[in-house]
Amino acid sequence: MRSLYSGLSDLRDDDEWWIIGDGSQPIAKSLVESLDDRRLKYLEYADPNSRYGNAQRNFAMQRATADYFLFLDDDDVLLPGALDCIRQEGQHNVPLMFRMDYRPRRCTLWKTRQVRKSNVGGTMFCVPNILGKWKPWTLAKNPGLSDLQFIQETLSLWPENSLRWCEQIICRCDRHNGGQPTEVVLSDGAKLHPSANVYNTFVGENTKVAAFAEVGGACLGRNCKIQAFAFIPPGVTLADDVFVGPHVCFTNDRVPKARKNWNPQATWVKQGASIGANATILSGITIGENAMIAAGATVVRDVANNETYFGK
Ligand SMILES: CC(C)(COP(=O)(O)OP(=O)(O)OC[C@H]1O[C@@H](n2cnc3c(N)ncnc32)[C@H](O)[C@@H]1OP(=O)(O)O)[C@@H](O)C(=O)NCCC(=O)NCCS
Repeated sequence: MRSLYSGLSDLRDDDEWWIIGDGSQPIAKSLVESLDDRRLKYLEYADPNSRYGNAQRNFAMQRATADYFLFLDDDDVLLPGALDCIRQEGQHNVPLMFRMDYRPRRCTLWKTRQVRKSNVGGTMFCVPNILGKWKPWTLAKNPGLSDLQFIQETLSLWPENSLRWCEQIICRCDRHNGGQPTEVVLSDGAKLHPSANVYNTFVGENTKVAAFAEVGGACLGRNCKIQAFAFIPPGVTLADDVFVGPHVCFTNDRVPKARKNWNPQATWVKQGASIGANATILSGITIGENAMIAAGATVVRDVANNETYFGK
């Protein structure tokens, strides 16, 4: 979710974003459906031979029609302006292959020939989408080797000097840990009160989180205001300009149990919506643009754009 949100606001009308689920994260599908954006294309593709998403990458590449492919794992984040950087650089005559920053190793891949038989973070680059000029990702068991094979075999299809590396860093990747982001990404101007408990979360530009709020595994858009004691758990995505009043409680599991597998449902709050103090939002709900949730309301259904919802 955080990956998706990190690039969503920079998408242009003619961009397309293929999100290929392998069936393991139903939350991704419901999130994409709730976004209701024709540029986002969600498909499920499970392949028992696939490791680390290689089969899913091939599946998407066979369908993509834009000029460049950019691979993004679900624990990768695009830096603001990354897509514009590709557009700008991609206009030069020589097609580009981009490298991207990868933390914590900060390896520079091709330039320093650091590609080794280990997981180097193969999704860190972007290649031109020209038929016959890329090799499918291998379904080899060793993910590092298949990263390397993809890079080398794709490059070998291009005559010397006909493809150059762009050294700009356009993407940040977190450690691969099963799709869970491991830290807070704080965009420019974002502020967290020292006593706010924020973890595994993307915080958009100029968003403020007040004292004693708990925000974990969520995505917060730009210019949001989160008031004291709000609770925002995994599965919640706020678009830009969302107000979350004090003591607002988002839930993410309809039938929680102390002992069972956890299955969070996605909740999406669209741009400009406000949620009054002490409201409780059940999971899997979409709150529309500029909607107003009354103080103390329990939100049990989707709320339409511009609707004022007083609850039951
Ligand atoms: C939802 C809200 C925006 C409605 O404001 P409004 O349009 O000015 O509505 P009114 O005050 O005219 O009230 C309209 C009706 O809804 C009722 N109502 C208002 N707020 C309500 C609430 N939170 N829960 C239940 N009913 C509410 C009123 O009693 C009134 O009922 P009536 O027609 O039977 O008399 C506002 O009441 C609210 O809850 N704001 C959130 C405030 C907040 O949490 N701020 C956080 C920052 S500290």
